[in-house]
Amino acid sequence: MRSAAPPAVAPVASGRLPLLGHLPHLAVRRVEFLQSVRGQGDIVRIFLGNRPVFVLNSPEAVHEVMVTQGRKFGKGLLFDVARPFIGNGIITSERDLHRRQRRALQPAFRRESIAACVGTMAGIAQEQVAAWRPGEVIAMDLVLRRMMTAMLVATLFSAERPDGAAAVAALGERVAEHLTTVMRGVFVGTVLPARIAASPVLGHRRYLAAAAALRELADTAVRQARQDPAGHGDLLSAMFAPTPGNPDGMTDTEARDELLSLLMAGAETTSTTLAWALHELGRHPDITDRIKAECDALPADALPGAAALPFTDRFLREVLRLHQPSWILMRRALEPVRVRGVELPAGAELIYSAVTMHRDPAHFPDPLRFDPDRWLDRPEKDLPPGAYVPFALGSRKCIGDHFAMTEMLVVLRSIVSRWRPHPVRGHRVRPVVQALIRPDALPMRVSPWPTR
Ligand code: HEM
Repeated sequence: MRSAAPPAVAPVASGRLPLLGHLPHLAVRRVEFLQSVRGQGDIVRIFLGNRPVFVLNSPEAVHEVMVTQGRKFGKGLLFDVARPFIGNGIITSERDLHRRQRRALQPAFRRESIAACVGTMAGIAQEQVAAWRPGEVIAMDLVLRRMMTAMLVATLFSAERPDGAAAVAALGERVAEHLTTVMRGVFVGTVLPARIAASPVLGHRRYLAAAAALRELADTAVRQARQDPAGHGDLLSAMFAPTPGNPDGMTDTEARDELLSLLMAGAETTSTTLAWALHELGRHPDITDRIKAECDALPADALPGAAALPFTDRFLREVLRLHQPSWILMRRALEPVRVRGVELPAGAELIYSAVTMHRDPAHFPDPLRFDPDRWLDRPEKDLPPGAYVPFALGSRKCIGDHFAMTEMLVVLRSIVSRWRPHPVRGHRVRPVVQALIRPDALPMRVSPWPTR
């Protein structure tokens, strides 16, 4: 039965300034600002200049927008800015096209397909980790970014490139560099008015050049894969395969757009999460000991997963809680819709921050304390839907969640089996909040485990 209560109006968050709205707060203390408005209502309005944006503050509001009323929402502003670069791939597309793309990509993300990639993932991680020297200071954030991009390139672009591991690593490095520039450009274009975002001072030309270079690399990968009739069971082969809605499989342009979408969604998210994971290991040697013991007890050929590495899995879930990299998600109302009693007009822009959800003391006591064992006291299934959302939820939930968890377990196992990471004395790690929240720099000293 429809509620007869008159619709509520979302209150305007405190701190709005003439002309600028809440932009100065978002410019200086983005994440803290969003957390500060949590107490002001389930849904509040903030202003980017004159543009109103509705902020979802409760798990219930998030769940309603993402799941129960999910079909009334499209993806919104961030994705308008990303679309010229990634085209209409799975992360930007809507409705029927999105459903078709998701169905086409799904086989590549099935558990057995991911299990088939574990050898490639482990090979890349172990090769890089084996090159470290005792006592060496590793630029962990950069190394992880290249490693995770190479991993994605190896599994997306081809599992067995004829030109070998070195070529994959080199390609991974090039892709990683362009990708960082593109992600930054998309973020700048989202928060700033188009005229300001296009300013050369903000690196707009660099952004366009990096986007063109990435497109070129993706086009080449698609062309090469198309010419290779054998296929390698990788993601590109899955894209070319016929599906019920698309008997000819994807065209080259569609496959290119999907590659770019997957690179954008899957490279920096995992490398940033892992950078925070390594940072926490540096701060908690006892946790490193527990992970090392768990990894040592696992037979070399066993597949990493929550059942085989339960503590390491809990550790990663806690990293994703406290250091959620995708700190802001956006949606747009496709029609007038009432959420938690608040009337939203068609075209309303919405955001929510998983960081706000993940640091809510109502669900995570002492939320800033890093404690993997909190998940023993209150497992995810006991939380209200919408309270813990590292991979979002609903029909647009991350398709790569299991892939990402597997990759991250593989990398942690490769690193911690050989090395203990230490923070570098005198270096303070600071979060930088752009498209993702990442450490500004993460130099770490590695020492080998004593031989017994
Ligand atoms: C720790 C790592 C990761 C995190 C935290 C993460 C998080 C997310 C989140 C929050 C979304 C929802 C975005 C939205 O609705 O606006 C998403 C979507 C998506 N992610 Fe991930 N992701 C991760 C890794 C990956 C990986 C490794 C891949 C692929 C290889 C991937 C592919 C995708 C795709 C394709 C979507 C769009 C799904 C759709 O719209 O149907 N992600 N991810």
